[in-house]
Amino acid sequence: MTAAGHRHTINDVTQQIRERYERFARTEAHGTSAVYEDLAMAVSRDEPALAMLARLPAAKRQPNLLFGVLRLHGVPVDRPADALAWMHENEPLVLDEMRARRTQTNEVARCAVLLPALAAIEGPLAVVEAGASAGLCLLFDAWRYHYVGDGIDHHVGPADADLTLTCSVEGPVPLPERIPEVGWRAGLDLNPLDPGDADNRRWLECLIWPEHDHRVRDLRSALATAQRVRPRVEPGDILGDLPDLVRQAPDGLTPVVIHSATLAYLGKRDRERFREQVRALGAHRIGLDSANAFPEVAEQLPADVNPGRHYAITLDDRLLGYAEGHGGSLSWLPDRA
Ligand SMILES: C[S@@+](CC[C@H](N)C(=O)[O-])C[C@H]1O[C@@H](n2cnc3c(N)ncnc32)[C@H](O)[C@@H]1O
Repeated sequence: MTAAGHRHTINDVTQQIRERYERFARTEAHGTSAVYEDLAMAVSRDEPALAMLARLPAAKRQPNLLFGVLRLHGVPVDRPADALAWMHENEPLVLDEMRARRTQTNEVARCAVLLPALAAIEGPLAVVEAGASAGLCLLFDAWRYHYVGDGIDHHVGPADADLTLTCSVEGPVPLPERIPEVGWRAGLDLNPLDPGDADNRRWLECLIWPEHDHRVRDLRSALATAQRVRPRVEPGDILGDLPDLVRQAPDGLTPVVIHSATLAYLGKRDRERFREQVRALGAHRIGLDSANAFPEVAEQLPADVNPGRHYAITLDDRLLGYAEGHGGSLSWLPDRA
């Protein structure tokens, strides 16, 4: 490759990173984290920061990973100029941490969005979570739920639960009267996180966006429950190891594979393979993932829904509605299960 050609490639990469941080600022952080919006914009305009990120593999350049690492080291992310200065002074450390760590945000509030879809399936259920992190979403029957909306004030779940998740709803959501019965459950993750490990707990907190204090409280509470209950999360790859795990489900239960905020980690072809695998296993599939994961799902989303901020909630291949990515709100489409 010529020197000019090589320069061109590097410029392409830094331009892609710049656009990724701008997109994160405008579509993901805007309106929900002013701190991360400003910080992502500052990174997108800082040539040395972009050059540093270009030295990482593409999958390791995520804003959430960089910002989580900064917070792990106590960097003032609400002061972008200071945060960038620290980053430049500590570049080898930042790069090492970003190579070693993963964005495994385990958002228990997503259970409130998964629940109406789970309750639509006749149980008892055998639940397998693909990309389970510390397994908090596998424990959806441990939490109490409070759904609120226009004329809606609905509680469900154990009255003595350690944690109540509040979710604002709109549209004809089929809110369950009872939590579905779970006969068996297991998760799969490339890197299962032990909820009893202090470093894991701290890292999961650092992955929560700065202004989202209620999410930190919920995470701590859910991790304490998980530490006690110990949901089973096996190390393995969704593509290679899922069938064996699903086949371990006892007879007489309805197998359902759930996945939330996971498909972004798979390429287009692997997402299709994953979907085919679940079909071939005869299991239901409930997804709470980027609407862009499957083109025909994205096409069904109402035009005014921002796919950068909202996830699609699907049962098998049917779009049921869409939800704020961290589970705070759920909109159900008309005429859905
Ligand atoms: C953003 S976290 C979401 C965790 C959880 N589902 C939730 O919604 O809170 C995505 C998880 O998927 C896992 N993951 C990504 N690709 C995977 C793969 N090919 N096989 C297994 N797990 C994977 C990651 O390690 C990470 O823990």
